Amino acid sequence: MLDQLAEIERAALAELAGIGRTGGPDGALAALDDWRVRYTGRKSVFTSIMRSVGSLSPEQRPAAGQAANAAKQRLEEAYERRLEALRAAALQRQLEDDSVDVTLPGRAPNEGRLHPLTLAQRDILRAFASMGFRPVDGPEVEWDYYNFTALNIPRNHPARDMWDTFWITDDMLLRTHTSPMQVRVLERVPPPVRVVIPGRCHRYESVDATHESTFFQIEGLMVDEACTMAELKGTLSEMVRQLFGADRKTRFRCDYFPFVEPGAEMSMDCFVCGGAGCGLCKRTGWIEILGAGMVHPNVFRAVGLDPKRYRGFAFGLGIDRVAMLKYGVDDLRTFYQNDVRFLRQFTHPAVTPECWDRGKPA
Ligand code: FA5
Repeated sequence: MLDQLAEIERAALAELAGIGRTGGPDGALAALDDWRVRYTGRKSVFTSIMRSVGSLSPEQRPAAGQAANAAKQRLEEAYERRLEALRAAALQRQLEDDSVDVTLPGRAPNEGRLHPLTLAQRDILRAFASMGFRPVDGPEVEWDYYNFTALNIPRNHPARDMWDTFWITDDMLLRTHTSPMQVRVLERVPPPVRVVIPGRCHRYESVDATHESTFFQIEGLMVDEACTMAELKGTLSEMVRQLFGADRKTRFRCDYFPFVEPGAEMSMDCFVCGGAGCGLCKRTGWIEILGAGMVHPNVFRAVGLDPKRYRGFAFGLGIDRVAMLKYGVDDLRTFYQNDVRFLRQFTHPAVTPECWDRGKPA
């Protein structure tokens, strides 16, 4: 029996040593497990040998039993060592496969950016915040009452033609400007009031390089017992200087909006040609950027405020137009096409206005 044990142990160790020499790591581990079941498991050759120890003479039994146990233990230890070695080899292979080549150039993360209209809007709001104007939000789907009637533009008033409107029902529309928020704010907030309202507007009009059917405005409103046209001019001129430089000049000319009296349009002197005339300012030396005026008494009446007691000014400027000027974009439709090659150009600090000169005849 001792010879038989020695023969089994020798064959088992030889087989064990051969496991993993060929085939992949998974195959080696499966073969190793098969080996364990055959040589050291409950139904292994050793189990049948141990059973046959009982048939030996009493003198032979202890030596045979001890030899069988010792051989089995040696095989179990050999199994553990082989298992450990195969695992280490598998880990080593995995580390080599997954290794990082630190000499390769890095991959730049794909950074998001703020949209140029968001950048322009933030700049404008920041300028007004420095003068005490608080931002307020308002609805894009609006009632006729707020968009027109309460703004001194009753039904059938010819001034309604100034705003080509997307109607939803007879009474409901997509707001054509942010001015309805003048009424909504004054209905809720007692003067003194100093707010700015950024928002999307919609007009049913033909689209070109300076007109979109959807665009953004910022409305401004200041109301107090004493408020003058001089404050309107000072506030808007300061905003222009903060956005376009301390040397900018502003010009106010009469304009008509039914909800202000007097009404004005404000232009700034062209920052490319300094007023001499160029492509950007259409050779006038001036660039128009907003409509404004003193709040009309009928708007005060619509919200229940006494027009003899209160004065106010309001203005509405196009964010798209300001962004075009600030970033040197000559077609506002590009803001809405979402071409990432275009949008990637806009980071803060903004593209300098000098880009107007590049490739453009003055
Ligand atoms: C208004 O919408 C008035 N609500 C502004 C106002 C407010 C006047 C308060 C007085 C007091 P207007 O239609 O001119 O006015 O538009 C104001 C600005 O919005 C324009 O100067 C322009 O910058 C921008 N704008 C108007 N239509 C478009 C358009 N289709 N696409 C892009 N920007 C536009």
